[in-house]
Amino acid sequence: MPLETHDFRATEFCNMPGDDYCDKVTHVVSACDSRDQVLQFLNVEVESLSKNVIIVTTEWLSECLKSGKIVPVEKQHYIPWTVIPAKTTVNERTENIPIYECQRETPLQHHNEHITHALEILAKEADFRNDDINYSRALAFRRAACVFKCLPSRVEGVQEIQSLHNIGSHVKRIVEDILDNGYSSEAEKTENNDWFKTMMTFTGVFGVGPAIADKWYRLGLRTIEDLKIEQTLPNKDERISTGLTFHDDLTLPVLRSEAEALADLIRCELDTIDPQYQLVVTGGFRRGKDCGHDVDILLTHPVEGKEKGILEDLLHRLDRQGRLIYGKREQSTWNDGVLQGENIKGQYLKSTLDHFEKWIGIMKLDKKCRQCCLNYGLNSNEKQQELLHSSLDMKKVSHLRPDTMSHMDPKNNSTKRKCPSSSSEDRGTNDRTWYARRVDLIVTPTSQFYYALVGWTGSKHFNRSLRLYAQKELHMKLTSHALYDTTKKHLIPANSEQEVFKNLHLRYLEPVERNC
Ligand code: UTP
Ligand code: MN
Repeated sequence: MPLETHDFRATEFCNMPGDDYCDKVTHVVSACDSRDQVLQFLNVEVESLSKNVIIVTTEWLSECLKSGKIVPVEKQHYIPWTVIPAKTTVNERTENIPIYECQRETPLQHHNEHITHALEILAKEADFRNDDINYSRALAFRRAACVFKCLPSRVEGVQEIQSLHNIGSHVKRIVEDILDNGYSSEAEKTENNDWFKTMMTFTGVFGVGPAIADKWYRLGLRTIEDLKIEQTLPNKDERISTGLTFHDDLTLPVLRSEAEALADLIRCELDTIDPQYQLVVTGGFRRGKDCGHDVDILLTHPVEGKEKGILEDLLHRLDRQGRLIYGKREQSTWNDGVLQGENIKGQYLKSTLDHFEKWIGIMKLDKKCRQCCLNYGLNSNEKQQELLHSSLDMKKVSHLRPDTMSHMDPKNNSTKRKCPSSSSEDRGTNDRTWYARRVDLIVTPTSQFYYALVGWTGSKHFNRSLRLYAQKELHMKLTSHALYDTTKKHLIPANSEQEVFKNLHLRYLEPVERNC
């Protein structure tokens, strides 16, 4: 359905197999149960869908008709890729789950939180131990959690997990414990462990990783207050110092409304420099999360090379407005030799490091940008803290504004928004009008944009899976910059996210389906 004409012709597609499917179509509305069926009906391959097309349910159309306008597509409006027949046994339903996470849909909301919560705590604990063996343990817990996230129903009995892959004997014992007793004693013990609790607190400080957190624990420090009053805190640098100063703000989840407000104000600045600059909010927000720990913004320009210098200019302007609290600008370290030179075997699967020019920092954002959340009933900081800690993944706030970013292709987005008013005066810590917010600004050349978009949309585990799959199955090397065919020794370009998946011989997954 072409959005601009509000022509609902596409609603008839499912009654008219073979009807011409053209590039102008943006939405396909269907009563089919799966997208596979829709494609079959339209007689088109997934690759032939134009890059912006969204396949949605008839409920979405009803809502549009009811409100007399095009309503944003939300998670519940998407039609799933495949339908698992209801009458099959659990084992039949689960044994066909593809091995790689990037080959299957992982939604944000799933049926097995009772299991994944425990597995993610144990994964976190292994992460904190920060060595190779524990890296593998953490990975095993995460991979198992990812399997449970994509199951079509809640696991109630042990027999249901027998045929699942990526579930080792340790995980089986944990799941048995949960199914028998309602909780995992191992995860509970970990959650109550003094070291784990302290590590959670300390690694929550901006600039602090497991090694520093552990060092502080060994010095007998336990709370943020301890860190603040310690005169000779080892490893404390300007970044950590700022992290401690704004710790309360930075552990208050960033809401979607704030991410949008921040994107708006940056977009305004870019527009005054050159309206051709494009930005997109990536990370968890693009995957449909309603809150996160930071805002990840990707910047580009349609003319290769013109992206250079934009960050410096932008930061200068934001600084003049008094919006920057702290930040570190990293220069691009990309060159054509980078892909061939890096260790293909292991390291890059573990790391999220890339070579883009970027700014990792803390900005001021007006408190009023949270207003729309408060209107929806989250009326206290305690409530939001509770939400933050209720899930390691911060995904519980599900009743906020609809997702306006998950399917957006920034290169085709020409909407101009009104500038939000600039930040009010700082009136002191408790009485100030702004919150400190963690912001990542990443600059990408247009030729690398779609690989960067996939990489920065995540999730981290999804990226890991994509890279492992590319390496093992295709002998290709995927990074946030490019896809490199190690056999033919050339880069494979992509002009859309769909093309990134196509180049990897993978079925396209929407950002909201990459929540593994
Ligand atoms: P985040 O750490 O912000 O994750 O990185 P997130 O999913 O958005 O989590 P919340 O919602 O903020 O808590 C965003 C994505 O960017 C990638 C990560 O792999 C992740 O998928 N990333 C991050 C990189 O590619 N490079 C980096 O240096 C950092
Ligand atoms: Mn993020």
